[in-house]
Amino acid sequence: MDFLQLAKDRYSCRYFSEKEIEQEKIDKILEAARLAPTGRNSQSQKILILTDKEELSKLGGCTPYGWNAPLVMLICYDKNESWKRRCDGADGGIIDMSIITTHMMLEVTNLDLGATWIGAFDPIKAREIYNIPENYELAAILPIGYPAEDAHPSKLHNDRKTIEEFAFYNKF
Ligand SMILES: Cc1cc2nc3c(=O)[nH]c(=O)nc-3n(C[C@H](O)[C@H](O)[C@H](O)COP(=O)(O)O)c2cc1C
Repeated sequence: MDFLQLAKDRYSCRYFSEKEIEQEKIDKILEAARLAPTGRNSQSQKILILTDKEELSKLGGCTPYGWNAPLVMLICYDKNESWKRRCDGADGGIIDMSIITTHMMLEVTNLDLGATWIGAFDPIKAREIYNIPENYELAAILPIGYPAEDAHPSKLHNDRKTIEEFAFYNKF
């Protein structure tokens, strides 16, 4: 598929069917994560995959979102492994996890599944609920599933700036 078509087809899906996701598809989403570029190729991602109903039901303890998706991925990075910029020590972990999560969302779309990136979670509660190790930082939560029959993009999906509003040639 043409890349821009895939980018257009992706939207934040917040309505899921109960249908379970085949392991083959989960493997492909994880392969998309594996192929993503990371700062100095540090590959510090640590991804917790929730498929067990009891584990999935605990998600509400750290975020109001989740939409009963049958599959949820918690995308973390290991602070001991992520790339640190030499001049100021800035941690590249969040940037790397953003690229990885985006790769995963696009593969989700490619597989006719849906997902929404959840940034609104309580990291302290998430750490307690899912026993996230101290050196891991939770960057994103990704509920994934087959879109429900009535699934549709929100109004914001088509609310994009024009290129002229954000792109500047040669000087701001
Ligand atoms: C970093 C990030 C955090 C987000 N957090 C949430 C969230 O917590 N809850 C939610 O419903 N949507 C969340 N979204 C989805 C955005 O609201 C959505 O991408 C945006 O409105 C554009 O819509 P679209 O994805 O359908 O094109 C998040 C998206 C990103 C990239």
